[in-house]
Amino acid sequence: MDYLDLPPLLEARGTVRLPGSKSISNRVLLLAALSEGETHIRDLLASDDVERMLDALRILGVDWVHEAGTNDYRVHGVGGAFPVKDAELFLGNAGTAFRPLTAALALSGGRYHLSGVARMHERPIGDLVDALRQIGADIDYLGNDGFPPLQLRPADIRGGGVVRVRGDVSSQFLTALLMALPLTGEEVVIEVVGELISRPYIAITLDLMARFGVSVTHQDWERFVVPGNARYRSPGTVYVEGDASSASYFLAAGAIGGGPVRVEGVGSSSIQGDVRFAEALQQIGAHVAMGDNWIEASAPVSGRLHAFDLDLNHIPDAAMTLAVAALFADGPCRLRNIASWRVKETDRIAAMATELRKVGAVVEEGADYLCVTPPAHLQPATIDTYDDHRMAMCFSLVSLGECRVRINDPKCVNKTFPGYFEAFAGVVRPVPVVAIDGPSASGKGTVGARVAEALGWQHLDSGSLYRLTALSAIQKGVELDDEAALAALASALPARFVGGNVLLGEVDVSDEIREEVCSVGASRVAVLPAVRAALFGRQRDFRKGPGLVAEGRDMGSAIFPDAEVKVFLTASAEARAERRYKQLIEKGLPAKLESLMQDLRERDARDAARAVAPLQQQPDAVLLDTTSMDVDAAVAFVLDLVRGRGLAPG
Ligand code: DC
Repeated sequence: MDYLDLPPLLEARGTVRLPGSKSISNRVLLLAALSEGETHIRDLLASDDVERMLDALRILGVDWVHEAGTNDYRVHGVGGAFPVKDAELFLGNAGTAFRPLTAALALSGGRYHLSGVARMHERPIGDLVDALRQIGADIDYLGNDGFPPLQLRPADIRGGGVVRVRGDVSSQFLTALLMALPLTGEEVVIEVVGELISRPYIAITLDLMARFGVSVTHQDWERFVVPGNARYRSPGTVYVEGDASSASYFLAAGAIGGGPVRVEGVGSSSIQGDVRFAEALQQIGAHVAMGDNWIEASAPVSGRLHAFDLDLNHIPDAAMTLAVAALFADGPCRLRNIASWRVKETDRIAAMATELRKVGAVVEEGADYLCVTPPAHLQPATIDTYDDHRMAMCFSLVSLGECRVRINDPKCVNKTFPGYFEAFAGVVRPVPVVAIDGPSASGKGTVGARVAEALGWQHLDSGSLYRLTALSAIQKGVELDDEAALAALASALPARFVGGNVLLGEVDVSDEIREEVCSVGASRVAVLPAVRAALFGRQRDFRKGPGLVAEGRDMGSAIFPDAEVKVFLTASAEARAERRYKQLIEKGLPAKLESLMQDLRERDARDAARAVAPLQQQPDAVLLDTTSMDVDAAVAFVLDLVRGRGLAPG
């Protein structure tokens, strides 16, 4: 499975230009297609769901042109029903294409077969089909009753009456009806049965229909009148606003990670209901500022967001972002009136609960609500995304808790925001890492510890983890080539690093692990892939603010390939043997220069020749040869590099 590892992040700040709104893009495309005249659509969203709509329109006989190098399109409207009367359409998991096309095609007098991915076939459409049948549409379910795939046939459509549609499962049914009914040419009254959810999405529909020349009136969002003799007419040029739901991740990033983070493309003049996410953020303590076409968010002065209890029916998509923001609140948070989550790209209530628990939250899940109690410390986790773009985008925010997170199947963001992770990386600052790799006894340990101390950063001596594994194995009588048993030992090592000391359980083994038997043992266990894998996460967990100095053999390659500073620290074998000899003698430990040299050479050879994580200078690492350099000079050299990159004050 494909995955993306996000490093622990220190802060978020910057500006993001949002991609076009999915809701507006797919509505405008359909309206432009049904219109008389050509529509120039600017800033259309480039994503999977919009592709599905564009492909379908092409198949249905709508001529459109993509203006190369832009997100602009020219759509030649067909001025009424679709000209192609027999077609098979595959609409992926795009609800914003499937529902409106079902309604428009049911009134187009042709034979159409509509299908999607497996999940699309689990998403209800019965309420829309029931409504369309009331005016004579001929629609059959080809799988389960109430769900796609569908077969549509030519039928005698009777406008001029009342259509009743349920409004409490998905507002897309009402949107689909509203946009299609002008095709009947007669006045139609729509009565909404049950409480209308996600109202702001209906407001988008009405606003866009009006721009295309059809004004629908309504009473209290319960009764809508689509006028007779209505025809869609191109308004000429339509600009697609930035996506307000996509904005939510960046605004939340600003509210969690310091900020300010500014999004451009939506603002106070937006027609999208999800801009009200900004209000919700403000209610929970964030600082929010807004202009016509931008919104900006930063963290509360106290640092932490406030616990909340909110009805989020009006912003169902952006509300998912609040569920993850709840991890950063100062108490339990309740998200109410979100039942529609259950029929989206996945059952989002269940998915959200499962994944929030993985990072340590206590979650209570109800039919239409979630309660999220944030953990004291976020736990690193591998997040499943359920082919749901919003799950992937939401959970990127966990990394702002200085917590690494792995996002499975990150490409699912292509549904609405193909460049999401690049845009996210553009406004966040990872916890910086200085990776110092090099051979045994090159002085990495001393230099690493001194650099960490000077910067006030964390320090990881990764070699000690291999040494501890070897020591533990020797103590427990585990053979040094029993890979499975050694890996089990490594993953459960009761190791602690206190001050400059290394503890195994309650015993200080700082000196013991430096003895030759542990050195040799470490280099033997370090060749075993399962042992390295067992120590992988433990090493990455040392990456905490304000920064980390990590030394070993594969810090800059396998463990922290994204380290900001990489140093390859080495010295001649003779110089290294002499240094180790002095160290041992000073500690009163027995040592022979000859045999130390011999051991070092053997270990160097083993470290460099092994199949997994061999010791090599990375192409992006700076070489530091300390053969004739003292420790102070080496430390100064590394500190200069760190400061030169702006990672610490000079
Ligand atoms: O740096 P050191 O001498 O304490 O390392 C002990 C052994 O562990 C050495 O033989 C190489 C191995 N090691 C490794 O394979 N990868 C690391 N990141 C660190 C050490």
